[in-house]
Amino acid sequence: VGMAIAVVATFFDSRITSNAYGLLVAAVLAGGAIGAVVAARIAMTAMPQLVAGFHSFVGLAAVLVGINSYVETGGIVDHAARTVHLVEVFLGVFIGAVTFTGSLVAFGKLQAIIRSRPLLLPGRHVLNILLVVGTVVLGYLFFGVEGDKAAMLSQGMPWLLAMTLVAFVLGWHLVMSIGGADMPVVVSLLNSYSGWAAAATGFLLENDLLIITGALVGSSGAILSYIMCTAMNRSLMNVVFGGFGAHEGKMAASTAEAGEVVATTVEEVAGMLEDAKEVIVIPGYGMAVARAQHPIKEISDKLRARGIKVRFAIHPVAGRLPGHMNVLLAEANVPYDIVFEMDEINGDFSHTDVALVIGANDIVNPGALEDPGSPIYGMPVLETWKARTTVVLKRSMAAGYAGVENPLFYKENTRMLFGDAKKSLDALLALLN
Ligand code: TAP
Repeated sequence: VGMAIAVVATFFDSRITSNAYGLLVAAVLAGGAIGAVVAARIAMTAMPQLVAGFHSFVGLAAVLVGINSYVETGGIVDHAARTVHLVEVFLGVFIGAVTFTGSLVAFGKLQAIIRSRPLLLPGRHVLNILLVVGTVVLGYLFFGVEGDKAAMLSQGMPWLLAMTLVAFVLGWHLVMSIGGADMPVVVSLLNSYSGWAAAATGFLLENDLLIITGALVGSSGAILSYIMCTAMNRSLMNVVFGGFGAHEGKMAASTAEAGEVVATTVEEVAGMLEDAKEVIVIPGYGMAVARAQHPIKEISDKLRARGIKVRFAIHPVAGRLPGHMNVLLAEANVPYDIVFEMDEINGDFSHTDVALVIGANDIVNPGALEDPGSPIYGMPVLETWKARTTVVLKRSMAAGYAGVENPLFYKENTRMLFGDAKKSLDALLALLN
């Protein structure tokens, strides 16, 4: 509704000349049609990359608006107003460019077009510092240009364009060097950047609505990034400059010592559940892929009707979006009062009979707590192995998003129920019925 009002208001703006109406209508129709088709077609599991893709558009728009409105600086006579405008242009283009390439890389990684493993160039910190220093130098040259529109175009524009290229490389490199389980923070960080880019564009266009919405997105994205960092026990600086998942060589060693994997059957799991007093369900990305939230809801109803205590445990970065699991469980009408955050429920596994892991992997990896060599070491996880039995529903022994082996699968009290989670749960439900 807000956007609709903004678009309608734009049509009545006195600066819109009558020959621009055709262009405006065409742009609204084309953009609206593309947006509607993409949104209607996108699978729920592809939401994060869609969001990342949209952020890249915001970044690109900020770059284009900035470059475009730079030319107008030549017409500003007042010295102070001119300086303010130049700062707005420079900052807007810089943030927009970092957001643009950063979001494109995030899109590629989430869509698995680019490997999710961090790219760790030798001297990557030096490269980042050089890019920032380069930006500052180009800014110095840029702000030094005086004169009319022609001077701006011939002397200032090359510096601005050069800085845009430097910022493109910076955005690309920052996100390329982040990998594994840090991607959620990156997506929300880019969300925040896209907000600041929009706010900068708002200043350039003297558009208060854009400033307000941009600032809202920018600050809420920043807060969300901070919350996710805390949840993952990481500092923001560490995520942005750390290169998570850098010690992959070490993981191979710990997998070699792994024990045996014990597969189980639907019949056996049904028996375990019927004998249980307490069950905790841990949904993960695989539940979203399989769309298994409905059968697990029905199974939980069945068990609860028999007096078994069933609860759901949600890890802050389960799935691919903040709140991903909460949305799916709500869609299946799982009552809120049996859905718990990690901190609320993690102490309860020791007196739980069955921990039912549905398509989750990284968020239940004991290596995150026990193995200092693990790339996700330090991330709090759901400690399902403390339950009497952990049943893991997944299709294969494949790793999760962070690409890390999971020692949970080799523990003595773990049983693997291989197969698509929805098929397994449907079969389980049929048995319980
Ligand atoms: P993952 O670690 O990605 O594991 C998901 C598991 O589901 C996979 O190992 C896969 O194993 C299984 N699976 C896939 N399709 C399945 C199906 N149809 N039936 C049964 N199992 C299926 O998921 P997680 O434990 O939820 O952890 C989330 C990860 O994503 C974390 O590393 C997190 O940092 C990252 N991440 C999170 C976010 C946010 S904000 N939540 C955003 C970006 C990235 P098989 O292939 O063997 O079936």
